[in-house]
Amino acid sequence: MKHLAIIPGDGIGKEVTEVGLAVLDAVSEISSFDYDGELFDIGSDRYLRTGELLTDEDIDDLRKKDAIYFGAIGDPRVKPGVLEQGVLLRMRAVFDQYINLRPVTSWFPLVPLKREVPFDIHFIRENTEDFYMGAGGRFGPGDGTSRLKVKRELYELDVELNVEAEPADEFAFEIGFLSRKGIDRFADYAFRYAAARGDDKVTLVDKANVCTHVYGMQREIFEAKAEEHGMGLEFMFVDAMAMAMIVRPETFGTVAVPNLFGDILTDLGAQLQGGLGMGGSGNINPQGVSMFEPIHGSAPDIAGQGKANPIAAILAAQMLLENQGYPEEGMMLREAVRYCLDHGKTTRDLGGNLNTEQAGRAVVEHVLNRKK
Ligand code: NAD
Ligand code: IPM
Ligand code: MN
Repeated sequence: MKHLAIIPGDGIGKEVTEVGLAVLDAVSEISSFDYDGELFDIGSDRYLRTGELLTDEDIDDLRKKDAIYFGAIGDPRVKPGVLEQGVLLRMRAVFDQYINLRPVTSWFPLVPLKREVPFDIHFIRENTEDFYMGAGGRFGPGDGTSRLKVKRELYELDVELNVEAEPADEFAFEIGFLSRKGIDRFADYAFRYAAARGDDKVTLVDKANVCTHVYGMQREIFEAKAEEHGMGLEFMFVDAMAMAMIVRPETFGTVAVPNLFGDILTDLGAQLQGGLGMGGSGNINPQGVSMFEPIHGSAPDIAGQGKANPIAAILAAQMLLENQGYPEEGMMLREAVRYCLDHGKTTRDLGGNLNTEQAGRAVVEHVLNRKK
C-alpha cells in the first residue's frame, strides 16, 4: 500500500488531479498497485483565507508519504511569485527534489514539425539551484547594503552586497548560484540515467559563453564525471538547443539542463508533443519524497470550463507509478493514452471534442478493459 499526498492546488490543477486519481483508482483495480491518498488543502484558496502557504505542519505530514501527486499552483488574485515560491519552489527545496525529469516524446500525429521523425528526449532539469534560489534584492537610493541569506539542504549562503546608488538610481538583481555538490549529484544522476536508457552520451545545455562563472564550473565538473562514468558528453548553448529541438529532435536522448533554461526548453518540448496538456514531470529526490505533476500551470484562462487536457497529469501519474516500483502499471497508462489519441478520445486542444472528465473517463475505461 502506497501512501500518497494529493495536492490539487489551483485552477485546472484541481480538474486534472481529479482525473489522475480516477486513473490511479482504475490501475489499482486491475493490478497489485494499491494506494491511499490524503488530500492537502494547499494553494491560493487557503492562502487567501488564512495567509498560509506551506506550513511546518504540512511539511511534517508530507514527509511521511511515499510520494506527492501535485496539480498546479498560481492564481490571478495573488501577486506573481507568492504561491510559486511559497508553495512549489519551497516544496522542491524542502524535500531536496534536485532532479526534475521531463520526457518529451513524439506522440504522433500531434508533433507540429514538418518531418515525421520519432524522438524521445529525456530532459533532466536541475531543480534546486541556478536562478531559482530567490537570491536577489532591490535597492533604492541610500539603501547601501543588502544581506542575502539562502538555505538549502546542501549549504547555506550568506552574502553581503554593497551598493552605492546615486540619489536617482535603483537596482534589482537576481543571482544564479551553482555549487560543486549540487553539480556533482546532478551530473551523476544524468550519466546514470543515460546509461540506464542505453544512451551513449549526455547533452549538457548552458550559456557558458556568457555566464562563464556558473556554467564554466558546471562544464568542468560534467567533463570529469563523463570520464568517471565512461559516457560521452556534448555541450549545447541554450539558444542553439532551442533551434535544434525543432530541426533535429531525434538526435537527443538524455539532456541535462540547469534550472531556468530547463523550465523554458521543456515548455517548448511540451509543444513538440502536442501542447502543455501533454507534458508530465517528476521532481525527484532519489533518497526522499518525490513529487509528480504536469509541467503546465493553473491555466486561469480555461479554469473551471472543463477544457483542460488531463493527459499531462495522467503521464505524471505514470511517472509516479514507475518511480514507486510499478513500471508495468505505468506502461498501461501510456498505452491507454496512445489508444485515446488514436481514437480521437481527447480534449479540444488535441482536436477532440471531449471535456476534461470525459477524456479522463476514456483512459479509465481503456485501463479497466484489460481486466476482461
Ligand atoms: P499555464 O501552463 O498555466 O498555461 C499556458 C497556456 O497553456 C494557457 O493558454 C493554458 O490554457 C494552456 N494550457 C496549460 N495547460 C493546459 C492543459 N492541461 N490543457 C489545455 N491547455 C492548457 O501557464 P501560465 O498561463 O503562464 O501560468 C498560469 C499560472 O500558473 C501562473 O500563476 C504561473 O505562475 C503558474 N504556473 C504553475 C506551474 C506549476 O504549478 N507547476 C507551472 C507553470 C505555471
Ligand atoms: C514549472 C513552473 C515553475 C518553474 C514555476 C511555477 C515556479 O513553470 O514547473 O515549470 O518555473 O519551475
Ligand atoms: Mn514552467
